[in-house]
Amino acid sequence: MRHFLTLKDFSKEELLEMIALAQKIKAQTKRKEFVPYMERQTLGMIFEKSSTRTRVSFETGIYQLGGVGLFLSSNDIQLGRGEPMKDTSRVISRMVDMVMIRTFEQSKLEEFAHYSKVPVINGLTDSYHPVQLMTDYLTMIEFGKADNPVCAYVGDGNNMTHSWLMLAAKMGFELRVATPEGYECDPAVVEDALAIAKESGAKITFGNDPVEAVKGCDVVTTDTWVSMGQEAEKEIRLKAFAGYMVDEAMMSHAKDDAIFLHCLPAYRGYEVSEETFEKHSETIFSEAENRLHAQKGIMVWLDAHRNDS
Ligand code: CP
Ligand code: NVA
Repeated sequence: MRHFLTLKDFSKEELLEMIALAQKIKAQTKRKEFVPYMERQTLGMIFEKSSTRTRVSFETGIYQLGGVGLFLSSNDIQLGRGEPMKDTSRVISRMVDMVMIRTFEQSKLEEFAHYSKVPVINGLTDSYHPVQLMTDYLTMIEFGKADNPVCAYVGDGNNMTHSWLMLAAKMGFELRVATPEGYECDPAVVEDALAIAKESGAKITFGNDPVEAVKGCDVVTTDTWVSMGQEAEKEIRLKAFAGYMVDEAMMSHAKDDAIFLHCLPAYRGYEVSEETFEKHSETIFSEAENRLHAQKGIMVWLDAHRNDS
């Protein structure tokens, strides 16, 4: 059985199999062919943080695959009143067929997976957001930007950045990361990504100059400067990230046909200008829709591999 906790745990070939499944099922869905790949299966969806896209895409996705999603907010289940993660896992995983969790520490997700009888999917932790990066890769393919692209990530060295590092390392493309001093990526994640990159030929660089990162690139991306759980640091963060907004002046350094991706929610006037956001809204909202399709590919792949030793 395989869990989907970080992209690090999968080979490039396996990730591409999931993407291929996503593309196939997306095409079927667009033709209104709802193939029951996961008939009568239940997906438990545990949320310790807020969500719009993750909740709606997983719940809709499992339904379109012939199953049903259970929205389990930690405010409503005993987890929120102190029932241990390992007990929550041992109970829920005896009743459902797959689990998606959005939580804080990656270690909590790993603990749940360790005790689970069914595949577990990371729906975002403080460390990673792997389902979003599978989505972003699907979107890059659709917009013709997956063939040896140069990508730039501008902003906070956070869960999104870490997953970008893993995607670039696995797929073997160039990624330039620009973060303000003091907001760099976790050194342990960087070390892992660079080790994988050595094998795949990916070129990953780090710096503090967003314009330098964006120069001549095909894909520009960013994320909020204040992630969930960091609300108390908001004022200090907004000051630290001055000069990191992706706006038209910054985009002018990228290729003329560069695309801009954002996992959303976007905070205009902070990490992205209103003008740049609206100019790229077709790409951004295709990316949002692709959450639905990419995650179906991941769920069907995990279901097919649940008896692997
Ligand atoms: N991008 C993303 O995960 O969005 P939600 O927080 O709305 O799920
Ligand atoms: N880095 C953001 C991503 C939201 C989808 C957060 O963790 O809040």
